[in-house]
Amino acid sequence: MQKATANGYHSKQQTIMILEKIEALLKEVAALSAKNAEDIEQLRLKYLSKKGEINAVMADFRNVAADQKRAVGIKINELKQAATDKINELREQIETTETGTESIDLTRTAYPIGLGTRHPLTIVKNEIISIFQRMGFTLYNGPEIDDDKHVFTMLNFAADHPARDMQDTFFISQNKDDVTKNVLLRSHTSGDEAHYMETHEPPIRVLCPGRVYRNEAISARAHCFFHQVEGLYVDKNVSFTDLKQVLLTFAREMFGPDTKIRLRPSYFPFTEPSAEMDISCNICGGKGCGFCKHTGWVEILGCGMVDPHDLEACGIDPEVYTGYAFGMGVERITNLKYRVNDLRLFSENDTRFLEQFQSAY
Ligand code: DAH
Repeated sequence: MQKATANGYHSKQQTIMILEKIEALLKEVAALSAKNAEDIEQLRLKYLSKKGEINAVMADFRNVAADQKRAVGIKINELKQAATDKINELREQIETTETGTESIDLTRTAYPIGLGTRHPLTIVKNEIISIFQRMGFTLYNGPEIDDDKHVFTMLNFAADHPARDMQDTFFISQNKDDVTKNVLLRSHTSGDEAHYMETHEPPIRVLCPGRVYRNEAISARAHCFFHQVEGLYVDKNVSFTDLKQVLLTFAREMFGPDTKIRLRPSYFPFTEPSAEMDISCNICGGKGCGFCKHTGWVEILGCGMVDPHDLEACGIDPEVYTGYAFGMGVERITNLKYRVNDLRLFSENDTRFLEQFQSAY
């Protein structure tokens, strides 16, 4: 071996060894294959990275005899180009097989899609709607954020009625000079009656489902929001008998043909006369149990004949038209149907509770 110069060993022998190495690498590169992107990355690292084989050859380049440098340089470039081309070629092949249509099996059955379940309140609400739709009622959705005028004033609530009180109603803004301009979260769906009558001529036969809000301490039996379905019928010659028959039909459709109803006189500002309706307890069949407090009856709704004041406030002539209205709590009916004993379960989003309604509709 010759003596090293400042540039390293300049020997023919060294040059031959580098050329042989380049030839060997060219052959190797030409025969490369890869199964996936990971393989290709490994090849890139092996040949083209900073610490790869080709850079190692380049490092030896300084040992090539000066008169051979040009020829060896050309060879190294050839090798580098060949490796780059080969790796790109392999990458293209993999990409076409990975995205190509050959790998899709059109006969394979589809993955089962977890559809989830309907919420029990939605199941019951839809059932209520469907029963009344069969009796000719249409749907109307009023605003959840409403004004005092529609929720209370037009429905004959006196200015000092406790329902307007901070205790019950969530106010969004209060107007000191004019309570009717107070903006609030509706505390019942009866306000939808005012909205609908204000904008529609009789005959009116409408059902208004929706969420309502009350400032209540949350417990198993009370919540700060719940759901109601309001019903309103206004036409010529509508009587209390019509109301009673519609409600009996509803109760039997909802809870079974043996269900009995009982109307107890009550008071609501917007109906006269007013009543609360009980159904025979469908948990004990009317014999008496914990749910019905051993009375055999469970209250499910409020109802009555629309007060002439409301009709007038909405521009409907009470001398010509009469009507009935009713409002029921969806939670109460769901509790009765599915024996849910804690209102909080409806809004906790616990799938162990919700999954139990998978086959309920
Ligand atoms: N809005 C009443 C409540 O929230 C329920 C109600 C009673 C609605 C009588 C009516 C009705 O339409 O006529 O307690």
